[in-house]
Amino acid sequence: MNGEKVVVSRQIPPQALSVIKQQADVFLWESEEVPIPRDVLLRECREAVGIFATLTERIDEEFLSNAPNLKVISNMAVGVDNIDVAATTRRGIPVGHTPGVLTETTADLTFALLLASARRVVEGADLVRQGNWKTWSPMMMTGQDIFGATIGIIGMGRIGEAVAKRATGFSMRILYHNRTRRPEVEQSLGATYCSLEELLKQSDFVVVLTPSTAETHHLIGKKELHLMKSTAVLINTSRGSNVDEKALYGALQDGVIWGAGLDVFEQEPIGADHPLLSLENVVPLPHIGSASIATRTNMALLAAKNLIAGIQGEKLLHTVNP
Ligand code: DGY
Repeated sequence: MNGEKVVVSRQIPPQALSVIKQQADVFLWESEEVPIPRDVLLRECREAVGIFATLTERIDEEFLSNAPNLKVISNMAVGVDNIDVAATTRRGIPVGHTPGVLTETTADLTFALLLASARRVVEGADLVRQGNWKTWSPMMMTGQDIFGATIGIIGMGRIGEAVAKRATGFSMRILYHNRTRRPEVEQSLGATYCSLEELLKQSDFVVVLTPSTAETHHLIGKKELHLMKSTAVLINTSRGSNVDEKALYGALQDGVIWGAGLDVFEQEPIGADHPLLSLENVVPLPHIGSASIATRTNMALLAAKNLIAGIQGEKLLHTVNP
């Protein structure tokens, strides 16, 4: 401890917390269940030199003007859409994030959601559990094949590439759309670059993996959903704002597309009465893309290192500021 205060906005793995405690006085919001209330966050950050944040904390102008001593913001996530990065840059406050360590784990979950949605795994388990399995019958719980199908990956970053790698094991044809072409991925994984429109028209599985930005807001809306095959499945493990949920509900309800696997929502947690949750052809998950024990521990450790580097005035291991 050296007397400088940092705020840790959640209970985090003990290894990461002890790294931080060796370097600073910690205010810890101890709850796992309830995010730190806004007034507590603002109050505790007033004297703080650093904050260890998660995606549930909104770091905006109001927050920044309440935290005049802040030297660093360390987000335990690769996405930073909870942070007004431009405002932090104007103030010279670096924002740390945790790319790389969650790539494979998030790709695993993306593929799990794809498999579960295509083969109605959750619906089938519910049927058995609820005592509604009457008999075997030829077309009961029939779904879509994955092996040999076409996957369209929107956003060919680290996670997109890791998903594509898994798709090769299922002999899938891989299409992708990205801001820039990735010749090395085309070469190593046989992925084909195409326009968003072509990708939507040709894919059996459309996987959204773009960050959440002003440009990607409702990237998948009514028009895009209507370009997709009626047998297609939409998978979103990126950010809820990338998909227009109203349009998605309509498309799933009317059979415009066949199903969806969603780990993220426009509003999180999604309300239990949300129309999407009434549909059997939706597999909903509570934003657990990176949630393996090892990966969440590694994310916390990396975020702790970013935080310490920032309070010591050193370069962060990973920052998002230009
Ligand atoms: C991220 O890192 O951005 C994830 O969504 C949180 O695990």
